[in-house]
Amino acid sequence: MPPQLIIDTDAGIDDAQALLLALGQPGVEVAAITTLSGNVHVDKVAKNVLKTLDAARQRVPVYRGVDRPLINDVNYAEDIHGTDGLGDCNLPEPSGQIEPEHAVLALCRMAAAHPGRYTLVAIGPLTNVALATRLDPAFPRNLAGFTFMGGAYEARGNTSSVAEFNVYNDPEAAAIVLNSFPRATMISWELTLNHLVPWDKLAALDSKRGPAVEFFNKISAFIEANLRRDGYQGMAMPDALAVATAIAPGIVTQSVRAHVQVELSGTLTRGQTVVDWRGRPQVDIIKHIDLERFWQMMVKSLRAE
Ligand code: RIB
Ligand code: CA
Repeated sequence: MPPQLIIDTDAGIDDAQALLLALGQPGVEVAAITTLSGNVHVDKVAKNVLKTLDAARQRVPVYRGVDRPLINDVNYAEDIHGTDGLGDCNLPEPSGQIEPEHAVLALCRMAAAHPGRYTLVAIGPLTNVALATRLDPAFPRNLAGFTFMGGAYEARGNTSSVAEFNVYNDPEAAAIVLNSFPRATMISWELTLNHLVPWDKLAALDSKRGPAVEFFNKISAFIEANLRRDGYQGMAMPDALAVATAIAPGIVTQSVRAHVQVELSGTLTRGQTVVDWRGRPQVDIIKHIDLERFWQMMVKSLRAE
């Protein structure tokens, strides 16, 4: 039975790709989408989520969360995602509105009202998730599961030499979450680099028609240009990998369980996810997935004609 998802996002382009995968996947219900600052400011993120819902022809409650990390100054990625966070491609204004309730309160309320129902997929910094955990210590156990896109288990950083963007942006939040959740599934930057989607698969969508696939193509062009400029041999889709793994764990072909902690004070290493093979294993580090099955899920969700 596919899970009912709550997705916590800093949408950005790859987040929007991930949302389209979830929203269009048969049998999957996205019960709520919570937002926070990361790739761009949370107000832009919320608007981007509403625009993505329009492209998916779906209505899902959207909640505004925190506008900055717990300690760090916020560190946007507009160079990668565009000023608006969706590739600056003049998308129409969204039709929906965000909910009045704060995202952190909504997370705690929904999980407490239906223990064991929702799987939380975090695809941005973990500030909302950390605050929910502090507000309601039962929050982690009220969830059916928790998957996050974040970290670098071999310290192949994308934002510092050793740290991945989501954890780098709020290391304290990541530390709180990894020290509080009994189990977490980690989709890392290394997994992303080892599972780039070949450019010809993206190109095969260019001639397709339909609101979701045309939106996907429009927003993906900006990040494709950046990745090609930087020599990538395919599309990096970290957030979609996280959502797909939460929806269909069967696509995972190799994982390892270990104890993962977050460095908070190193001059060069702050935000590094440190794997301790001796400690209590609380994280399932995904090392390989079936990329063909992942891409079939993505294409099916886009309902391209
Ligand atoms: O490091 C990649 C992650 O940081 C992705 O979630 C991307 O959207 C950014 O949030
Ligand atoms: Ca993200």
